[in-house]
Amino acid sequence: LKLILSKSKRNMRSIDIHDHVKGRSIYLDDIPLIQGTLFARVFTSNVAHGRIIKLDISKARDLEGVHKVLISSDITGINQIGGIIDDEPLMAENIVDFIGMPIALVLADSESIARKACKLIDCKIEAFEEITDPRIAYEKGALIIPSKKFILGDTESTWSSCSHIFEGKADINGQEHLYIETQGAYAQPVEGGKIKVYSSTQGPTAVQRAVAKVTGMEMHSIEVDVTRIGGGFGGKEDQANAWAALCALGTHITGRPVKYSLSREEDIYMTGKRHPYSADFKIGFDNKLKILAYEVTFFQNAGAAADLSPAVLERTLFHCTNAYFIPNVIAIAHCCKTNLPPNTAFRGFGGPQGMFVIECAIAIAAPKLNCKASDIQKANLITTGDVFPYGQLAESEAETSWQQFEDRFDLKKMQQDVDQFNKENIHLKKGLAVQPICFGISFTKTLMNQARSLVHIYTDGSVGITTGAVEMGQGVNTKIAQVAAHIFSLPIDKIRIYSTNTTRIANTSPSAASATADLNGKATLMACEAIKERLKKVVISIADTKEQNSDIEIRDGLVFLDSLETKITWQELISKAFEQRVSLSEHAHYATPDVHFDWSKGKGHPFSYHVYGTSVTQVTVDCIRGNYEIDFVKVVHDYGQSMNPMIDLGQIEGGIVQGIGWMTCEDVFYDEKGKLRSNALSTYKIPDIYAAPKEIDIIPLITDKENLAILQSKAVGEPPLMYGLGTYFAIENAIQSFNPTVPRRMNAPYTPEKVLLALYGSKDL
Ligand code: MTE
Ligand code: HPA
Ligand code: MOS
Repeated sequence: LKLILSKSKRNMRSIDIHDHVKGRSIYLDDIPLIQGTLFARVFTSNVAHGRIIKLDISKARDLEGVHKVLISSDITGINQIGGIIDDEPLMAENIVDFIGMPIALVLADSESIARKACKLIDCKIEAFEEITDPRIAYEKGALIIPSKKFILGDTESTWSSCSHIFEGKADINGQEHLYIETQGAYAQPVEGGKIKVYSSTQGPTAVQRAVAKVTGMEMHSIEVDVTRIGGGFGGKEDQANAWAALCALGTHITGRPVKYSLSREEDIYMTGKRHPYSADFKIGFDNKLKILAYEVTFFQNAGAAADLSPAVLERTLFHCTNAYFIPNVIAIAHCCKTNLPPNTAFRGFGGPQGMFVIECAIAIAAPKLNCKASDIQKANLITTGDVFPYGQLAESEAETSWQQFEDRFDLKKMQQDVDQFNKENIHLKKGLAVQPICFGISFTKTLMNQARSLVHIYTDGSVGITTGAVEMGQGVNTKIAQVAAHIFSLPIDKIRIYSTNTTRIANTSPSAASATADLNGKATLMACEAIKERLKKVVISIADTKEQNSDIEIRDGLVFLDSLETKITWQELISKAFEQRVSLSEHAHYATPDVHFDWSKGKGHPFSYHVYGTSVTQVTVDCIRGNYEIDFVKVVHDYGQSMNPMIDLGQIEGGIVQGIGWMTCEDVFYDEKGKLRSNALSTYKIPDIYAAPKEIDIIPLITDKENLAILQSKAVGEPPLMYGLGTYFAIENAIQSFNPTVPRRMNAPYTPEKVLLALYGSKDL
């Protein structure tokens, strides 16, 4: 296996670590305040669906310290922030569609005055009937876009040749992003009527576009800058736009800086979450556990506006057969409009929901086929050359990862130990579940697969880089610095990564789809290579050689030409290049080759590659109390060749625990009136250190295949979250061994309360 990066270049800490630990890293709230800054706060609807019949802002406006109260009619541009479809007003005009929908914007001298002023707004809303359930929305025809469908083979004519057919329903709840840094923005006036916006966003260009639209300005008059964000997890792919647009509108109208940093409470109730789904499935097998046919219908709870739901819906379809080859598939997905805050991107982007449902189908079938779910999983893994329902041929690592997983972990022995434990214990039961994963890398919207990088070498030899990548804790800046360090063979401290800024890098895709390091890293690679080519000529000119194909390298600050020391230092080389008037800067553009998709046919090649892996999760359920512990998660994961194992391990561990949270304790709860009841950390439980697995064992899959990833280091941001799915089925298996008479229920998450009810066969579930 040839390594692309040397060991010392791979084993590198995140370049952010020291500042993070010392509290020196800059987030939105760390930006020094400019004198005259106004603080914003929105007044929002407390009714999920209705018409505004009275809106009196006079008392709020007259409060001392309030500078202005803006409503939709004050908007200088267009009252529209819809991302995919123009269906989302920034502030309600007369109809409100969800609780938390902004109606008015208060601009005041302090946050506390803004808060007080909001309480003085007199608003009456005539309530209409609200919908919170996607199936009811579907029945009423409330769809955001026409339904989408993938077809492979012919299920209809296959059912008759199936030896076993099972049908069922699966439900899966949403998830609160709970990034540590809440949403927010800080807009500042700039000379000539321009506006600079600091935003906690994954998508600086999306913010720039939304601000331009809402203010009525042109994009070149708006500069968006992001140093880093304190987590996004998809929640800031486009839902950062609203706060930035509100602040910029305030600045545009008042000429003053405007800041809005949401409180946790505001953030939780106003912003959208992972999409809950309800699904119906039908699955058919031959008598050798092969899946012959699969039909699935997804009802996606999109919330009150499109936001990114149509794209999320598409990824649900792309991943509805997970890591399995099924020759006959019909998958249908409905984007259902409900009166909840618009749901949005969340790590996995609809993929995990699609994968959950096929795993439910397998879990339902297994006991009836007298086998373990893992027998079915193993028998149906996709192999290289098999076709996905969307037409792309697999370059599969599903079987290799399963094989290496079995070589490494003795699955049979694990199962025997669990069976033995369960025989010996009455009130504690263990459950085991295997979870293969397969996740496509690339934005499913082909045009988004492009990125740019701007690299400067300064005359002292130090390097500064801007890309479209947003650092959100996933370590992308370190990876980009590693790329430059690798190409120039420089130590990492010679490289600086600058803030993401729309004046330096334009028209960026959001940092999302796990593709940020691939896209921006490859653009950086291209820019560095181009400069290096020019430097090579300079070296050749001063080293007095005719060899044009020479390779240059820097070792301990000295330039080597074809492995021969030249006595020229890097700094001398750069000075010389400058003297010779050679450009030390490059702006490069990368577009992922060969990706395409035709929605009219539902076929194409949407992904540049797939990431695979296999995990096993063991849980112990306390059958008196209903709570549980996760004994371990063991994984063989397909990194390709990780360019930074420390960062990638962090991504895998974080993804797994986030996936476990979604499957276990995190339970988003809207009441029938559309009001979020799990609106604080006291009512919305995320996994703490006790809920995390006692052991997480991650083994890299060993392969030497080429792939399109940056330096052969496969994307790692989202795929590991899906190992978390196994937790649900491990818990279900433990429940079954305590009480085999309870029907298998497929309704995630398995909170301890639900586990307790399930253990004793409660009808309340
Ligand atoms: N890791 C941290 N620490 N914080 C985050 O917000 N977001 C996840 C993942 N890992 C996230 C994270 C999501 S949803 C995505 S799409 C990827 O990181 C985005 O970054 P990447 O493309 O560089 O992997
Ligand atoms: N992933 C994440 N974000 C996206 C995607 C995707 O596939 N498509 C559009 N936005
Ligand atoms: Mo990630 S859900 O693509 O931001």
